[in-house]
Amino acid sequence: MKIKYLKKILLFITLLVSIKVFSQTNKFRPIYHFTPAKNWVNDPNGLVYLDGEYHLFFQYNPLGDVWGHMSWGHAVSTDLKTWKELPLALPETLNPDGSANMVFSGCAIVDSLNTSGLFNIGFKKGLVAIYTSHIEKYGKGQAQHQSIAFSSDKGRTWQFYKENPVLDIGLKDFRDPNVIWWTETQSWIMTVVKPLEFKVQFYSSKNLKTWTLNGEWGKMGDTTKIWECPSLTRIPVEGKNMYKWLLMVSSGHEISGYLGVQYFVGDFDGYTFRPQIQDKAFYVDYGKDHYATVPFYNLPKNQTKPIFISWANDWTYARDLPTQPYRGQFTLARKGSLYLDENQIYKLKQEPIINEKIPVFSQTLSSFQNLNKAISQIKPNIYRLKLKLIIGKAQAFNLNLLGEEVVLSFDSKSQELSLDRRNANQIDFHPKFAGISKANVSPENGILNLDIIVDKSIIEVYAQNGKVVITDLIFPANTKNTIGLTWK
Ligand code: FRU
Repeated sequence: MKIKYLKKILLFITLLVSIKVFSQTNKFRPIYHFTPAKNWVNDPNGLVYLDGEYHLFFQYNPLGDVWGHMSWGHAVSTDLKTWKELPLALPETLNPDGSANMVFSGCAIVDSLNTSGLFNIGFKKGLVAIYTSHIEKYGKGQAQHQSIAFSSDKGRTWQFYKENPVLDIGLKDFRDPNVIWWTETQSWIMTVVKPLEFKVQFYSSKNLKTWTLNGEWGKMGDTTKIWECPSLTRIPVEGKNMYKWLLMVSSGHEISGYLGVQYFVGDFDGYTFRPQIQDKAFYVDYGKDHYATVPFYNLPKNQTKPIFISWANDWTYARDLPTQPYRGQFTLARKGSLYLDENQIYKLKQEPIINEKIPVFSQTLSSFQNLNKAISQIKPNIYRLKLKLIIGKAQAFNLNLLGEEVVLSFDSKSQELSLDRRNANQIDFHPKFAGISKANVSPENGILNLDIIVDKSIIEVYAQNGKVVITDLIFPANTKNTIGLTWK
C-alpha cells in the first residue's frame, strides 16, 4: 500500500480513538452545571457581580485532579446559565522557608468608594478578594489567617496585598471570610469561622486592612461536624415588605456521617446575630452532594433575592468521583427567599436559575395515573421534569428518573420524599456513595409539586416550589432514557 494511504488510515484511527476518549472522559460532564475543563475543584469562592458579569471563582488545583496546591480558578457568566472558564486568578505561592501559601476559600467585593486605597483615585470598579491564607508545610496545615488581593481589570489579573495577612488571631483553624458592606457605619463586616469551636465571628473594618472583633455567635443547630464557609445575607420574606438575615454555615447533615449546609434566620445589628428559636437544624438542601454554599455580592438592582452557588459534593468521597479529566462540579445558581411556615417559623425556599434550552416536560397526574415517557435521545440524561401530582388516596409512588437506576419515591403516610441512587451504575468507588437521601415534604391541598433537573451526573429536586431541595450526584449507565411513574 502506498505510504500516502497508510498515513490517511492512521490519521482516521487516531481521530476515532480521540473521539472515543473524549466521549468517555466527558460521559458524565453536565451541560448546565459548571465544571472546569480539567483538574480538581471544591468550594465556590468570590461570587460577585460587576458590570454585566457574574464571577465564579473556586477552589482549584491547577496541577492535578485531587485536592492540593489550592488556588482560585475563575469563570464568568452574563446570565448565570452558561459559564466561560478564564485563566487561573489567584495562585498558590511559596514562602521563603519553602512552605506553601495556599489561597483557601473567601469572597470578593467591589470597593466602589476605594475604601482600601488600593486603587487609583476615583476608580469605582476595583475588586478585592478576601480569602484565607493557609500555610502548609510537610503536607500539614501550620496556620490560617485572612489576606486580601486586588484587581483593577474585572478579575482578570490580581495583585496580592504586600502587608498580608490582614487578620491573624494565631489560630491554626480560622477561615472562609465572607464580607458585606454595612451602610449604617460605612464599614465592612466580615463573617468568618472558627471551625473546631462551631463559632462564627464578626469583624469590622473601614479599609479591609485592619479588622476589629465586633462579636461572635454559634454552637447551635448541627455541631456533628466542623463548621466552614459561613455567610450572612439579607433576604426578603415572600409576600411581605420585609427582610431578615440568613446565616448559612457548612456543617454536618441530618443523615449522620454526611456533610450539609445549615441555616439560621434572625436579626443582625452589625455586632451580634440573634436567631429565631428553632427546635432542630434546618438544612439548605437534603441531598448528599451540597456543600460550601455562598451568596453573590453586589447583585444588580433587578435581582431582589440573594443568589447562591454550592459545591455539589461530599468530602468523604470527593477525591474518588469517577470523572476525568476534571473532578468536582457546582450546583445551579439558586435564588433564595423566606416564607413563614404553618408554625410561624421562617424557612428558606429556593428556585433554580437554568438555561431555557434544557428540554422540559410538564405534566399533571392524578393518583393512579401512571406515566411512561420516552425522552429524546439527542441529549441523553438531560431534562427538566415539572410534575403536579394529585396524591388522593394513593399511599405512595415511585418515579424512575434514569431507567430503574435512580428512583424518587414519596410515601403519603410518612410524607417522606426519597431519592435512591443505590442502583445507579457506578457506586462502588466509595462505600459511602450509595444511599438514599430523604426529606419531609407536605403536599399542599393534596398536591405535590416537583421540579426535577437531571443533568447527566447530577439531579436537583425542588419540591413544593423549592421549600425542600435534594441534590445528589449520580453516575448512571442509563440508555433507556425513559421516565416512569407508578402509584401504589
Ligand atoms: C470547605 C473547605 C474550606 C477551605 C477549603 C479548602 O470545603 O474545607 O473550609 O477554605 O475547603 O480547599
